[in-house]
Amino acid sequence: ALERTLSIIKPDAVAKNVIGEIYSRFEKAGLKVIAARMTQLSRKEAEGFYAVHRERPFFNALVEFMISGPVMIQVLEGDGAIAKNRELMGATNPKEAAAGTIRADFADSIDANAVHGSDAAETAAVEIAYFFASTDVHAR
Ligand code: CMP
Repeated sequence: ALERTLSIIKPDAVAKNVIGEIYSRFEKAGLKVIAARMTQLSRKEAEGFYAVHRERPFFNALVEFMISGPVMIQVLEGDGAIAKNRELMGATNPKEAAAGTIRADFADSIDANAVHGSDAAETAAVEIAYFFASTDVHAR
């Protein structure tokens, strides 16, 4: 089914100058960028985005990392976009990420893991609405 997912290129990958490299992987896999914005998240925005992880021991380090530099946020659309993006990303921990995945190629640690992608349809809808007005999402 045609799906949308929220993708974030994290501060480590933006700093490595691989935005285009990562976009190219999305495009080659049939995912279309239908919204995009570069921003540096405020602490409030990062804490709100990761609110489900608030009680986890890694929460503070995760928020500190996510506000440490600019991020590139996009909505990807395509057939099975949520799973397809997760396949391209590889495992959350880059040490466990399969060869050829974004995290295997560009991530340094479980926090500095290059990219975020929504994990399910419900979270995708919430995450997209968190960053984009519907008028800034351009289905095509
Ligand atoms: P992300 O997909 O952005 O969602 C939550 C982030 O928390 C995750 O990627 C990791 O970067 C980070 N994180 C740090 N430690 C852990 C952990 N033990 N389990 C899951 N995520 C973690």
